[in-house]
Amino acid sequence: MTKYKPVKKAVFPVAGLGTRFLPATKAIPKEMLAVVDRPLIQYAVDEAREAGIEQMIFVTGRGKTAIVEHFDMAYELETTMKERGKDLSVLNATRATPGDIITVRQQVPMGLGHAIWCARAIVGDEPFAIFLPDELMIAYPGGTGCMKQMVEAYSEVGGNLISVLEVPREDVSSYGVIAPGRAVSETLTEVTGLVEKPPVEEAPSNLIVSGRYILQPEVMRVLEGQEKGAGGEIQLTDAMARMIGTQPFHAATFAGRRFDCGGKTGFVEATLALALERDDIGDEVRAMAERLLGRC
Ligand code: UTP
Repeated sequence: MTKYKPVKKAVFPVAGLGTRFLPATKAIPKEMLAVVDRPLIQYAVDEAREAGIEQMIFVTGRGKTAIVEHFDMAYELETTMKERGKDLSVLNATRATPGDIITVRQQVPMGLGHAIWCARAIVGDEPFAIFLPDELMIAYPGGTGCMKQMVEAYSEVGGNLISVLEVPREDVSSYGVIAPGRAVSETLTEVTGLVEKPPVEEAPSNLIVSGRYILQPEVMRVLEGQEKGAGGEIQLTDAMARMIGTQPFHAATFAGRRFDCGGKTGFVEATLALALERDDIGDEVRAMAERLLGRC
């Protein structure tokens, strides 16, 4: 039993423009791009459910209705599949319990911080998780997912918790970077500072914020009056940085794999890595990859 309020709500900001994936994302949300046979949003929702999260809040924008439909009943499809004797269990994880999925709208994509703030009324006065679905977090075989690991760490330290990842120093300028403080354990450290997209020489570490967070509701109040930051957007990192010192703030290193599916190379890598591990297609994909590489 933990003394901290449990994390039962998650916000999925999915209102971004997905410009790195154009033209694919002109009419299809980036979060609906499939890695093998599951769209990115499905991986994130499955990870949330595994962590005991019950309410999924999607911050959507224009052209994003497919995301909501993905978790709805598909009467025509299901009836036809039933009539043809097809297995409907592939759709199991796409069926939401009524009322579990809530959408709010971000009319203009003004940044991640602004997207999170759009969910303030639904989040209310509770700690909540955030998932960036284009960052695909995959557990090691037999291991637990990223958010489940975070919820376990949260039950020890409470407060705010972000998932971090070590990257080569020259890559830090594309990300939010933490200044680590006291180490609580091998995988958990205090955070004493946070900076969004710093120049390499000013970066406080090579630990970058990866797309999972557990935050206290006070962050909404900080976001309320926040000015635009890097890239002219309202940055979540800036709001979190202002909370350091007022509330406990920790970073957890995920024991698992992370694929940056917001960009093409990371997406292809994820597709190949997960396809190679599949029981149904793994062997075929391996043979195909070797053929393409000219190794057979
Ligand atoms: P990204 O930085 O990946 O931006 O946002 P993007 O617009 O989706 O993609 P690119 O860079 O143009 O290719 C990180 C997350 O925050 C969401 C995105 O949907 C993504 O899940 N986001 C970003 C919003 O919901 N609203 C925003 O205003 C910005």
